[in-house]
Amino acid sequence: MDFKSKIRVVEDFPVKGISFKDITTLLQDGEAYAAAIKEMAAMVETLEFDVVVGPEARGFLTGAPLSILTKTGFVPIRKPGKLPYDTIQHAYELEYGTDTLEIHADAIQEGMKVLVVDDLLATGGTSKAVCELIEKLGGEVAGLAFLIELDFLGGRALLDGYNVKSLVHYND
Ligand code: PRP
Ligand code: MG
Repeated sequence: MDFKSKIRVVEDFPVKGISFKDITTLLQDGEAYAAAIKEMAAMVETLEFDVVVGPEARGFLTGAPLSILTKTGFVPIRKPGKLPYDTIQHAYELEYGTDTLEIHADAIQEGMKVLVVDDLLATGGTSKAVCELIEKLGGEVAGLAFLIELDFLGGRALLDGYNVKSLVHYND
């Protein structure tokens, strides 16, 4: 399937000069959404993993269905203050300021193999923080799978050493 034809590109959102890749048009197309998740599952077929980890919010839309298809569990990563039990945090740099992500402290056990799933790889900052959280808990990142990769932002370089797979690539 030509997934790019299902993804809406919105110019100058959220700020001037940004060409936003809007997956809502793909999500609302049942055939396209199912096909995208199925192809992401095929993409990670050779990887061994026990659980899928996805960051809110759009990582839930890709990670949760992929975990169902692969019959693995799903672990959510959230912004601070949303998870009810004991958590660990990781703060990471943004262009301006910092951001923090949290995971339940008992969600990943020592030696567990984890697949990180998100909708989009841009600078890689979010995914790097997710990997740090998994590794802080003793988990092993088996790989990372994205629906979209913005090649020109070089996120793949930040994730050097990890197995990174993306379904659709954009060069601008
Ligand atoms: C977007 C996207 C990825 C991240 C990619 O999430 O869903 O998680 O940015 O960018 P990066 O590679 O530069 O870190 P966003 O933080 O906008 O939040 P959302 O998923 O809650 O919409
Ligand atoms: Mg996100």
